[in-house]
Amino acid sequence: MVSPSSVTPDIDVLTAYFPIPGLGQLPINAFVIKAREPMLIDTGAPLDGEGGDATESFMTALRKVIDPADLKWIWLTHADMDHVGSVHQILDEAPQARVVTTFLTVGRMSVFRPLPMDRVYLLNPGQSLDLGDRKVTSIQPPSFDAADTAGLYDSKSRTFFSSDCFGALLSGPAEAAADISAADLEAGQLLWATVDSPWLHKVNDATFAASLNQVRKMEPEMILSSHLPPARRMTDRLLGTLAKAPAATPFMGPDQAALEQMMAQLTGDAARAAVSV
Ligand SMILES: [Fe+2]
Ligand SMILES: [Fe+2]
Repeated sequence: MVSPSSVTPDIDVLTAYFPIPGLGQLPINAFVIKAREPMLIDTGAPLDGEGGDATESFMTALRKVIDPADLKWIWLTHADMDHVGSVHQILDEAPQARVVTTFLTVGRMSVFRPLPMDRVYLLNPGQSLDLGDRKVTSIQPPSFDAADTAGLYDSKSRTFFSSDCFGALLSGPAEAAADISAADLEAGQLLWATVDSPWLHKVNDATFAASLNQVRKMEPEMILSSHLPPARRMTDRLLGTLAKAPAATPFMGPDQAALEQMMAQLTGDAARAAVSV
């Protein structure tokens, strides 16, 4: 279920929570910047948490915040499935819109369902785009799980849209990152960072510190991650947690023996539930 809510008068978020067994709930966010030339950032996941088609749910939420026909830009931060779920449906309903993304994202999409090349606008990290009342600048975030990732900084709202970076696995939904206890937020952010960016364990400390500093120097008022509730004036805290990720315990998923144990446990619970009815 995708639900819309307002972050600021000119930014809306469309959120779905996706359960990951054993790890927690992952928020999956897309954003609408109601600029003079309106922009949608990412397009949700193709499936909802129960395996159903999420496109209609995403489109219903999107239509509540903007007429898709008014969209001028669709920014794809990268071609992972949780970011490109409804992009073709939106292209159909937003005939004026162009997809702002990188050459690599276009390439990755081409092995799934190609983007129409006459609807694409290529923008590399460091380059900017004018939305009429503000400039957005493409920025590679300090952590990411795909080489094509490009977040963006919005000069008017002073918001860094960070894609997968700063995401967190949570115990349940929250309206704002500040509503989550400090301990839960740090643990959820570190778990996500080790799952999403395992290469952080091999990174050179000085190089990583420099990329964290790049975000610090931007002094964003707000960080809007694809996988975290909106975070206002929390930049130092989020950066401080991410700085711990290289030394955090590396993530290792369950192996076959652990899976079989979980299945047996589930079967046992199901059997006990049936007996008690
Ligand atoms: Fe990703
Ligand atoms: Fe993602």
